[in-house]
Amino acid sequence: MTELRVLGLAGSLRQASYNRALLRAAQAAAPAGMTIAAFDLLPVPLYNGDVEAAGDPEGVAALKAAIRAADAVLFVTPEYNHGVPAVMKNALDWASRPPRGAALDAKPVGIIGASPGMTGSARGQSQLRQAFEFTNSYAMPQPELLVFRAHEKFDADGKLTDETTEKYLASARSPSRRGWRSSRRLDENECGTLGCRTKLGREDGVGFKMSWFAFEGRGKAEVLTLAGLTDTGEPTDAGVRGQACAELPNGWTVLADGDEGPFKPKTMARLSADGRVLAAWMSETVMCSRAEAWLEGKRLWSVIHDPSQGPDDLFVEGDFPPELAAIGARLAALQAAEGGEESDTDYVFEIASEISATLCGWRPDQDNEAWGEVEFTRAGPSEASPKRSWLAKLFGR
Ligand SMILES: Cc1cc2nc3c(=O)[nH]c(=O)nc-3n(C[C@H](O)[C@H](O)[C@H](O)COP(=O)(O)O)c2cc1C
Repeated sequence: MTELRVLGLAGSLRQASYNRALLRAAQAAAPAGMTIAAFDLLPVPLYNGDVEAAGDPEGVAALKAAIRAADAVLFVTPEYNHGVPAVMKNALDWASRPPRGAALDAKPVGIIGASPGMTGSARGQSQLRQAFEFTNSYAMPQPELLVFRAHEKFDADGKLTDETTEKYLASARSPSRRGWRSSRRLDENECGTLGCRTKLGREDGVGFKMSWFAFEGRGKAEVLTLAGLTDTGEPTDAGVRGQACAELPNGWTVLADGDEGPFKPKTMARLSADGRVLAAWMSETVMCSRAEAWLEGKRLWSVIHDPSQGPDDLFVEGDFPPELAAIGARLAALQAAEGGEESDTDYVFEIASEISATLCGWRPDQDNEAWGEVEFTRAGPSEASPKRSWLAKLFGR
């Protein structure tokens, strides 16, 4: 296999930059068959048409040559004032010239980024993505990486210390929807569409994220067969990458997935054909959560929390039981009492966990008072599927 040569550009000149640090972490996590070379943007002057007309300055010529020589370019961008910082945009502007045959023309590009804020450079990344329309670069839609609260994820030497981010960079399987599709877990034809109504619109990123399905009155073996999985018997935790299954003392069985799950109606109809199923999903990246109940192939109710619609947002459909509505009302009241939008905590986000605890006795973030910690075992596909790293996925390897 020929090696994939990726060029990494960090859009910050700061020595202690989180984005430069993230690029170093990506370099270290590059899978076999891929190298990521970093190009320092410091010698690239501000774009000036007069200078360009007189001939590319050395730094610009070097940048264009490096992009041309690379099979793909990884843009690691900060976010300034809700947009792409000048350093990053300037590099892109130079590399978009001349309009015909530019270095970025038809080049595969990936976008990642870090910010100390809560959105992990999401808006900077979106703006950058838009610019690639004009440069005719092939911006990979997924997976994407938003490293939020970056100051907590790198040490003073700029080394990535956050295990989740590290795992994400080096993960054996993509956390994207494609990961779901390729690993053939519940139904290879029915990949997940979570339909989260967030303005950001994407649930991939770094942070706690998981989905789980609780099956009423059905044993582990039955659930795993239904899901097309096998029990490896290997103890694991719910919420780590991959699927984990546990039979609860009250007769429910939980199938948890550390990636994301299928909420597609067709899949849920099949899973719930013979009994009640609770499906739940939470993503700290966008602070969205969702729960729905299905019985005999029909959705009974669903509830979604999307903070971009308001701190107490709960979008309910169907016949939502009063005791569950009361949980939502309690969380919304708590949110208001703690300062609503101004509060550092999103209490309403807990809706999926709390509903799960009420209905089946299990929630991902707390032990059940009576049972203590529930023991999960890893569930695997019947046929082992080849594992590809996140970076490999980004560039199609
Ligand atoms: C001019 C300026 C504007 C900024 N605007 C934003 C912003 O819109 N969103 C955000 O999350 N962070 C913003 N920040 C904070 C940066 O994300 C933070 O400084 C970050 O560390 C910059 O990336 P670096 O660590 O790679 O240099 C801004 C910083 C500066 C200097």
